[in-house]
Amino acid sequence: MTATNETILSLKHLQKSFGEHQVLRDISLDIKRGEIATIIGPSGGGKSTTLRCINLLEEPTSGEIAFHGENVLASSYNRNIYRAKVGMVFQQFDLFENKNVLANCMVGQELVLKRSKEEARKIAFKNLEKVGMAEYINARPNQLSGGQQQRVAIARAISMDPEILLFDEPTSALDPEMVGEVLSVMQNLANTGLTMIIVTHEMAFARDVSDQIFFISDGIIAEQGNPDQLFNHPQNEKTTKFLSNFQNN
Ligand SMILES: Nc1ncnc2c1ncn2[C@@H]1O[C@H](COP(=O)(O)OP(=O)(O)OP(=O)(O)O)[C@@H](O)[C@H]1O
Ligand SMILES: [Mg+2]
Repeated sequence: MTATNETILSLKHLQKSFGEHQVLRDISLDIKRGEIATIIGPSGGGKSTTLRCINLLEEPTSGEIAFHGENVLASSYNRNIYRAKVGMVFQQFDLFENKNVLANCMVGQELVLKRSKEEARKIAFKNLEKVGMAEYINARPNQLSGGQQQRVAIARAISMDPEILLFDEPTSALDPEMVGEVLSVMQNLANTGLTMIIVTHEMAFARDVSDQIFFISDGIIAEQGNPDQLFNHPQNEKTTKFLSNFQNN
């Protein structure tokens, strides 16, 4: 929670349709450098689609994505540079199964950032230490638990020096006993000043870590605010109903 006043990412009236199905109807939000933003909301509401539009895994149907004030969707914009600055951690880890832990964290650095093997190895190792996975550098992903794989995926993502790191339900595929270790790594990252946008169903985590929370339902931001506003004084009936499902957690 070290948000600055500098807006680095803005979505303006973002819309996304798949055929006839309009999934994002009107998403506008600003993300400041260092900010931790979480996105919550019911299944099918458009949370993943919003993240996938931000990192251009999906092409928005209309609207604008501005990164440092520049329109990312303009034809003249260099998307490769932008993509390298926006990292993503997925629900299913998506590690390279045929590479060991260290190599998983090196390959993007060498291919995309053109770092030397030596430099890539140093950075990968440092980040694996940060997530508590340095002793597993020679292991293959399938030899690791889900929580360990996800921590490697996070080390791989931060080894690319992203300006923004996106997380799409990073703990949803984990056995319950492994959720804590991944959330704790994310909490530590949040404290380093990295800008993070996190889709999560972990409400206690969202409450603890967020500067800003967006409640997305039916393709719009139905409500937004800081954790106190969202959790203690929700203004929208849909938010109240959604949160009531988590009350006993
Ligand atoms: N590639 C696609 N083609 C067609 N429809 C899609 C595609 N991706 C998503 N959708 C639809 O868009 C809607 C929103 O999906 P999205 O995955 O963004 O929801 P979500 O909020 O992330 O839900 P969940 O909590 O279940 O992950 C859903 O109705 C989904 O079926
Ligand atoms: Mg989703």
